[in-house]
Amino acid sequence: ETSSTVITCWAAIAWTANAPLSIEKVEVDPPKPGEVRIKIISSGLCGTDKHILDGKNKVPLPAILGHEGAGIVESIGEGVTSVKPGDKVLTFPIPECKECQFCLHPKGNMCLKEKVLSPTGLMLDGTSRFTCRGRKIYNLFGTSTFTEYTVVHEIAVGKIDAAAPMDKVCIMSCAVPTGFGAVFNTARVTPGSTCVVFGLGGVGLAVVMGCKASGASRIIGVDINEKKFPPARALGVTDCLNPRNLKKPVQEVVKEMTGGGVDFAFEVIGNTDTVVAALESCHMSYGVCVMVGESPSNSRLSFDPILLLPERSLKGSIMGEYKTRSCIPKLVTDYIQKKFNTDPLITHQLPFQKINEAFELLHGGYCIRCVLLF
Ligand code: APR
Ligand code: ZN
Ligand code: ZN
Repeated sequence: ETSSTVITCWAAIAWTANAPLSIEKVEVDPPKPGEVRIKIISSGLCGTDKHILDGKNKVPLPAILGHEGAGIVESIGEGVTSVKPGDKVLTFPIPECKECQFCLHPKGNMCLKEKVLSPTGLMLDGTSRFTCRGRKIYNLFGTSTFTEYTVVHEIAVGKIDAAAPMDKVCIMSCAVPTGFGAVFNTARVTPGSTCVVFGLGGVGLAVVMGCKASGASRIIGVDINEKKFPPARALGVTDCLNPRNLKKPVQEVVKEMTGGGVDFAFEVIGNTDTVVAALESCHMSYGVCVMVGESPSNSRLSFDPILLLPERSLKGSIMGEYKTRSCIPKLVTDYIQKKFNTDPLITHQLPFQKINEAFELLHGGYCIRCVLLF
């Protein structure tokens, strides 16, 4: 059924970077043709949301952030056929229209309708569905999950199993596919191989789980926050390194530990220095470095091209190269069937109203993913 009513609800507004979010009443417009209005049930906080709030990654503000959401369809716009009110869904920061040249190609997942790499904060028709105190509020990557209700294009909504536990599956919108796919689709980690993972947050530990599942013989974890080491060890990290406590650059230590460098390195922080360190940690001939983190806007990578010449490679991976709507709901079904268990990635849960506390947890102490419950 289509809806024409505006919903007034609570949302967390990012008016500017470097300030706490402000919980305010917003008006959420009805979905236009091809759009879906969703009642958010849970949302994870991702490193990318943190980078945006810290002002490192630029998006149009004021905005409602959040892109790791699980919810229930409230109403649908004209022409929507893949979901109906009451369906359980995930929201994806990369759409899959299934029609464009990129979607029809067997490889890759960058639908031509994506806006992740140059976020406009607006729907495809150039307008917004959110208003607060009479002002237009931008969305984030077409998702915006830090709100009780959001409007998302049908092409960025994935219908999931009715049995999905809604307090757990929100991390399947970003952290889990981003990490798993970096391992299974981009790097293609092989049994017995050696791996290093820079950054042991929610996405980094999903990478660790993927490396372990692929039969890696050694998984070195690198982080400047040693509180991440016990959970990382529990998920399969064999050696933990804090670059700040080493006498040499961490890449030198990794090379010594592995007889010349690892088979697979992953950068899961979003920092140009650590991308280069990860690249240098790889074996010069067959090493593969996968860049998963999103470095600050307008930053530049700088390294000696001779690093790549002897066949070392550097690849990027976004949403784990999964075509989102075709692949991620199947991952959810696998999770429900207990083919893997990503619950240990969720170390904290907080009510939505405590979102600023949740960001503080992510900044400081022992927190992998904090999930907000609505
Ligand atoms: N060296 C080593 N570790 C670092 C450094 C550094 N210079 N800077 C930060 N870290 C660690 C943090 O201590 C933290 O444990 O990186 C981890 C990042 O984890 P989260 O903030 O939880 O981020 P996450 O959600 O895992 O996302 C990581 O992946 O999806 C991308 O763009 C996203 O850049 C983000 C990255
Ligand atoms: Zn994310
Ligand atoms: Zn497409």
